[in-house]
Amino acid sequence: SMTRHEWAAEVRRLARERDAVILAHNYQRPEIQDVADHTGDSLGLSRLASTVEASTIVFCGVHFMAETAKILSPEKTVLIPDPRAGCSLADTITAEDVRAWRAEHPGAVVVAYVNTTAAVKAETDICCTSSNAADVVRSVPEDTDILFLPDQFLGAHVKRITGRDNIHIWMGECHVHAGIDGGTLRERVAAEPDAELYVHPECGCSTSALYLVGAGTVPEERVRVLSTGGMLSAAKESTADKVLIATETGMLHQLRGANTTTEFEPVNSRAECHYMKMITADKLLNALRTGTAEITVPEDMAARARKSVERMVEIGS
Ligand code: 13P
Ligand code: SF4
Repeated sequence: SMTRHEWAAEVRRLARERDAVILAHNYQRPEIQDVADHTGDSLGLSRLASTVEASTIVFCGVHFMAETAKILSPEKTVLIPDPRAGCSLADTITAEDVRAWRAEHPGAVVVAYVNTTAAVKAETDICCTSSNAADVVRSVPEDTDILFLPDQFLGAHVKRITGRDNIHIWMGECHVHAGIDGGTLRERVAAEPDAELYVHPECGCSTSALYLVGAGTVPEERVRVLSTGGMLSAAKESTADKVLIATETGMLHQLRGANTTTEFEPVNSRAECHYMKMITADKLLNALRTGTAEITVPEDMAARARKSVERMVEIGS
């Protein structure tokens, strides 16, 4: 069997041979993050997918992310090391659900978080990620109703910060982030009263975090609601002794690497996405050796989904 160093060298060699770029989400296993050409959040990786020169993208993340890369770069080969790496949040809504919901609200604009299948994206008007959701919502004329899907916690967060009351929210959730709930957060904050707090807006506790601020339990300047990319930028500049992190635990690898003087601790150490962790060292090697599994999206579906994703990429973050 190979050492980790031999494995990484072999991955790099095969990637060169295949003219492949390796993209990894911030929740991937540490060895996958370290061997990738780029590690980032969903928006950053979508942007890269549409600009990289390589003819093949090996996407180390979950299925909808690889699909998004394929939608943006239809001429490229997009591989995912395990096509079963799904997403409990994306699974909360189907294309048929979107059509039925839209029929109930004629004239509404459908804003979809990127954590959706290609089939769902094809039924939507504009995508968003956790780093640009508020900007995307602000781009919709104020008197137009918005159907926001599929995440209820991100939806509630966006509704609060934009102050709009004509946003209807789909009641989906990610099982990992929903599990980082208000009770867990209050316990951790009580145990670490001086720590700063970075909260992903998909968390069940994203509302509680702001209640803690409202109640004066935590000073406002110590709490930030951020995408995973936003957390990394904030971490690089942090002078705090300790920051509590409310998101999937894979994120800690990037944060600890970016700033070695601040301590980063999870709010919930069991918040692990088993889908993200399905991408293993062996499976990445196998994907590069065999050229599997290739992501395909039917052309008409891809064309409709692309409009929605491209509108988001144009708006910026
Ligand atoms: P971001 O990396 O865009 O913050 O997304 C978080 C997430 O849950 C993706 O699955
Ligand atoms: Fe989906 Fe949640 Fe896993 Fe992200 S962490 S991929 S939203 S199940």
